Formats: sequence, C-alpha cells, structure tokens
Amino acid sequence: MTTLTRLPADYVQNPHEVHDLLRAEGPAREVILPHGLKAWLVTRYDEAKIALTDPRVSKNVQTGGHLMAKHATQTHVRREIEPTLSVHMLNMDPPDHTRLRKLVTKAFTARRIELMRPRVEEIAAELIAKLNDGDEVDLLEAFAFPLPITVICELLGIPIDNRDDFREWSNQLLSFGTPEQVQAAAGAMAGFLFQHVTAIAEAEPNDTFFSALVHADDSGDRLNTEELISMAFLLLVAGHETTVNLIGNAVLALLKNPEQLQILKDRPELIPASTEEFLRLEGPVNVATFRYTKEPLELGGVTVPADEILMVSLIAANRDPQRYENADRLDVTRSAQGHVAFGHGIHFCLGAPLARLEFDVALTRLLARFPNLTLAAEPETLGWRDSTLIRGLHTLPVRLA
Ligand code: HEM
Repeated sequence: MTTLTRLPADYVQNPHEVHDLLRAEGPAREVILPHGLKAWLVTRYDEAKIALTDPRVSKNVQTGGHLMAKHATQTHVRREIEPTLSVHMLNMDPPDHTRLRKLVTKAFTARRIELMRPRVEEIAAELIAKLNDGDEVDLLEAFAFPLPITVICELLGIPIDNRDDFREWSNQLLSFGTPEQVQAAAGAMAGFLFQHVTAIAEAEPNDTFFSALVHADDSGDRLNTEELISMAFLLLVAGHETTVNLIGNAVLALLKNPEQLQILKDRPELIPASTEEFLRLEGPVNVATFRYTKEPLELGGVTVPADEILMVSLIAANRDPQRYENADRLDVTRSAQGHVAFGHGIHFCLGAPLARLEFDVALTRLLARFPNLTLAAEPETLGWRDSTLIRGLHTLPVRLA
C-alpha cells in the first residue's frame, strides 16, 4: 500500500527531483498537489503510456468536475471553468471526441502544415529583424511568444492586436489562481471568442480554416456555437502556450550546455531532428490534462481505485532511465523517438506538425542571426510558472550577439 505524499511547495520549481524519487518508488503514487488537489501521479514511461490509452480512463469533463470537488482538500482548489470553453475534444471520450477531432484533422496534417512554412519563416524573420546585437531582451516576450500566437491567430482569423489579452487570460487559466481570477479570465476569453465566432458566422464564407469550420464541412457535420467557441479556445491555448515554452526551455538548455549549442551552430541541419530531443528533455507540458478512472486500474503492480484523478507526468516519463540512457542529459544527436511530450493515444497532439515546424524555424533563425547569445541572468534566478500543466519560464533574459 502506498502512502499519500504532499508534493513540496516548490514542486514546480524542481519537478525533476520529485519525479526521480517517486519513480524510484513505483510507477504511480497518490499525492496532494501544492494547491491542495488529491490525485494519482504517474511517473514511469511504460505506465504513462498505459494510463494515456486504457479505456477505463476517461477525459469526460462532467465526471471530472464532480471528482475535482470530491478530491479537493482545500476549498480554493479550482474547479471546471466556464462551460462555454469546455465542450472541446480534449475534454471528451469517443464517440464525441472522434466527431470533433475529425472535423479539424485534415487542416493539421503534416502535409498541410508544411504549406505554412513560408509564412512561419516570414513571421520569424520579421520578429528577428526587430532585434539587435547587444540588446538585452526577454526572449519569450520578444520572440518565442509572438511567433506561435501570430500563427494561431492567423489560422483562427483573430486580430493580432488582442494577443496580450490572450496571454494574460491564458496564463490565469493555467495557473493556480484564485477561483475569482480564473473565473474572470474565463469570462473575458469566452466573451471575446463568442463575438469572434458570431462575426465569422455573419460574414461571407472564405477559404480560411476557421471560416470553413464555422460555415460547414465536407461531410455536412457542423459545430454549434458553444463547440466553435470551445474549439477556438482549445486551439488558441494549446497552439501557443506550449510552443512558446518549448522554444524558451530549449534555448535555456542550450545556453546551459555550450558544447551542445556548438554542435547545432556547426551543423544547423541537425536542428529539425534535434526537436525531438528538446521535446523529450524539456517538453513544455509537465502533467497531461487530468484524467479520471472509471474502474480500478492496475499500473505496474499499483492499483488506482475507481473515481480517482489521474495525472500523467510527461516530463517524468520522458526522463525515465529505463527508457532513455542518460535520461537527464541533453544530447542533440540522440534519437529521442518514442517520447510522450505530445501525449499518446487518441488525444495525441493535433498540432504536433505545426509545433515542430515553428520550433525548427524559430531555433534555426535565432541561432543563425544571434549565434553568440548568452543568458543575461544567473540560471538559478529564473523562475518557473506556477502550473502543473505548463513547464515554462516566467522570463528568459538573454543578451543578443
Ligand atoms: C493535445 C502537447 C502544440 C493543439 C496535446 C496533448 C499534449 C500536447 C501533451 C495531449 C494532452 C492530453 O492528452 O492530456 C503539445 C506540445 C506542443 C503543442 C508539447 C508544442 C511544443 C500544439 C499546437 C496546437 C495544438 C501548435 C494547435 C494548433 C492540440 C489539440 C490537442 C492537443 C487540439 C487536443 C487533441 C485531442 O484531444 O484529441 N498537445 N502541443 N498543440 N494539442 Fe498540442
């Protein structure tokens, strides 16, 4: 019988140490998160894959809402937010998940996404052109954030002037805020997206991705207004929160490992393949979105009872020494295939081809223009965001050269 462990208050600052201890003890462990939610945390690679695919595990948000309340050890634990933002595929099991995902799959295939490369290159080039040798900037603010948010806003037909609002709302929604803060951000986001969806529905159809989705699709299936708002919300949040932090985490890892940086400077053609190693070692999603056990689930000898919240740490699975040799070491030449940074199973990241493209373009252009950039702060002083979902820095101060 395993015992309940309260994760340390600074868990998000040092998750890897905690994961190493838990992983050595067993594949899954009941824990209390720093903000008070009781859940089972999976830290081993093999069991992570099982937990992400077993049909006894659900992503249904209705069940989830009720379990969140049941397992909250403190009253301020956040509950499921704004219903208008919640009817999206990541909150559903088949067949609802299948239906919603099918409507957008075609727009996100690797082949379709590759057609966006010239535009992604252009956006990256414009951002880089605004930066100068000798500048000290927050690389997240100046480069890693505007690139993916511009791309996803263009896909959704959303004016880019609102991007700072999204960043603020989205930050609030993914952090351990108070219920009031979370509610206010959710309300603002839902209100904005409602207006956007309405405007697109009232406008003449055009051939952009989101207009096509709002007006109809090939098979005649259509999304209702709430589903459209939720879809836009999911794409907007999933489409930038993650890529921003993959770029930030990867640049930090390179600056801390100059010999690895040198390899990529000498051989930039290795950058596309090295994306997988950055995803493995420095993936921007710590714990995959919450799951719920419908029935007891056996994970490598540990039984998780029914009606429990299941948290699968992707960053822990990706550093499982049973799966990867020298798992904590950055090796840009290794084959990191099989990592679970994009999840696994039916909810595997829809945007993976886009994320890979953006990362490849971003890192290639950054290192080509500023090969001698350095950290403008001591690594220990950099803080990590207060979220179990997102593994990303608050800021990444660098000196460009
Ligand atoms: C799902 C990671 C970029 C759209 C997921 C999941 C992960 C993930 C781990 C599964 C979550 C779970 O099962 O609980 C990442 C990473 C990214 C990235 C690491 C960048 C480095 C993107 C982008 C988009 C996107 C750019 C949008 C265009 C989605 C969607 C889902 C998803 C729609 C839900 C899929 C489903 O439920 O079937 N992502 N993502 N992601 N991602 Fe991404």
